[in-house]
Amino acid sequence: MQNNIIDIEKQALESIEQAGNSEQLEQLSIKYLGRKGVLTGFLRNISALPEDQRPSAGKRANILKGKLEKVFKNAFSKLESVDGKDFTGIDVTLPGRPAQRGSLHPITQVANEICDIFLRLGFDIAESPEVETDYYNFEALNIPKYHPARDMQDTFYVSENIVLRTHTSPSQPRVMEETKPPVRIISPGKVFRCDSDVTHTPMFYQIEGLMVDKNISFGDLKGILTTFIHQFFDKQTSLRFRPSFFPFTEPSAEVDIRCVMCKGKGCRICSKTGWLEILGSGMVHPAVFENVGYDIEKYTGFAFGVGIERMAMLKYGIDDIRKFYENDIRFLRQF
Ligand code: PHE
Repeated sequence: MQNNIIDIEKQALESIEQAGNSEQLEQLSIKYLGRKGVLTGFLRNISALPEDQRPSAGKRANILKGKLEKVFKNAFSKLESVDGKDFTGIDVTLPGRPAQRGSLHPITQVANEICDIFLRLGFDIAESPEVETDYYNFEALNIPKYHPARDMQDTFYVSENIVLRTHTSPSQPRVMEETKPPVRIISPGKVFRCDSDVTHTPMFYQIEGLMVDKNISFGDLKGILTTFIHQFFDKQTSLRFRPSFFPFTEPSAEVDIRCVMCKGKGCRICSKTGWLEILGSGMVHPAVFENVGYDIEKYTGFAFGVGIERMAMLKYGIDDIRKFYENDIRFLRQF
């Protein structure tokens, strides 16, 4: 009998020691302390013992019961803290969370792409201020005060003689005042017009181009712009030069490309014409050369201005210019 209770204790302690989780422990606790458990069974059988052994056997069994209850309690709390750690802790088998990487804004990407093409053609990049004087934005470009040509550009006036530049063309007289010909520059940047709808935002981007030297002809203008468009879109893109008017170029031409959406069949994007206007250009007006002190007998040149959003919209099939500036990460991630 004595041996029996010692055996029970030994076995119980050993298996509690080995239990790996609280479920196993629970099973053991039922096995030893439960209503039909080993110890209860032992106590129930005490009446079968010879009378003189009953008190000591009962006492021993009750002591063991108390001891096991304590051991179980400790073992449970030990395992629980381990289980708890497993639950809230780091699961080293999970794949890691990738660090989010930023990317360049689609407008920046397209501007870089356009600049790269012209850099390869030998152009330099010139910077020019966004807050501009009336003189460089208009007068130097042959647009006098109160002239109706100013109506083309809904201007934000900072004060009577200071404006937010309405185009990148002020870079032309600014560069020419500082450099002797030959000149071959592009000038990208923000421009501002009081205008806002599906195809217009009050701030947008342009890239200006200017090439001045002896014997620069309209043929050079056509050649450079054709090369540019073929490189930016693809070699199959056909384009046309359509007569136009700008006060600072003469003759002037707007360049259209075959609609990239419908390939010229006519669709919503090209208003059924099959053509899309993408830039303004022309031969630099002699009045502009005179304003910067260039000899109009010696030099000729051409200039152009491209809208960057427009190029990006055509290249990626984006139908609303405002998407560029809502900063919706789902839109921006696509580029
Ligand atoms: N500055 C003109 C515009 O914004 C574009 C242009 C640039 C036209 C250079 C001719 C030459 O509309």
